[in-house]
Amino acid sequence: MAHIIIVGNYQELSNKAADIFLQQLKSNPKSVFGLPTGETPLELYNILANAYRKYGYDFSQISTFNLDEYVGVKATHKQSYHFFMYKNLFNHINIKKVNIHIPDGCASDLNRHCLAYENLIQTHPIDLQILGIGRNGHIGFNEPGSPADSITRVVNLSAQTIKDNARFFNSKKDVPQQAITMGIKTIMSAKKIILLASGQNKAEAVYSMIESKISEQCPASLLRNHPNVYIITDNSAASLLHKNKISKYLVSS
Ligand code: F6R
Repeated sequence: MAHIIIVGNYQELSNKAADIFLQQLKSNPKSVFGLPTGETPLELYNILANAYRKYGYDFSQISTFNLDEYVGVKATHKQSYHFFMYKNLFNHINIKKVNIHIPDGCASDLNRHCLAYENLIQTHPIDLQILGIGRNGHIGFNEPGSPADSITRVVNLSAQTIKDNARFFNSKKDVPQQAITMGIKTIMSAKKIILLASGQNKAEAVYSMIESKISEQCPASLLRNHPNVYIITDNSAASLLHKNKISKYLVSS
């Protein structure tokens, strides 16, 4: 069953997510975390960096698994999710490099690499998976229509995503056409999930995820089948929800 937490703004959403993250860390210093990239977790990562720098939280025993990575983009490229994670989180906490896992989009045998990544997650079950949500309801790179039983795999990026990304790359041929993503089943195997949604441009996706019928057409709606999922949204992202209809899922922040 989903628990829904509606907060006032992006800062409060990030604080709430950080509270849950740090609580997990305190309860088990060897916790395994699943992590997203994107704009949404930036302030969460900033708070975690502060928790290390200012308040002495110890990240030395945690392990992490990132949700996704572009195919064919080197880890050193500024648009890679590797680069993003080091720049925004890993360079600022005392996590051990051997415990950081991010799919390798330049692996020589991508399918084999995906299977190995999936197996590694199954042998190191994720205690807390953090997710963002796409405007079309995607989670990771699981676009609408992704099967509920999908595992880590190579997916083709949508024409829209390829177009949107073009501005970040020097030439057209460098724009990634594919990505590696954890599957829906991989994500659902986490013990606890928090999904973060902020801003008016996520309102339709949040509405579909929570109030439409559960369907592969809105991958995030499949999370409602998970026994321990928290959806944290700010007021703007929650603006299309009918609070009277969903009151039994609302948890006070
Ligand atoms: C990124 C990821 C994506 C994003 C989603 C939201 O690793 O898995 O599903 O979480 O596209 O992106 P932002 O946060 O940039 O709105």
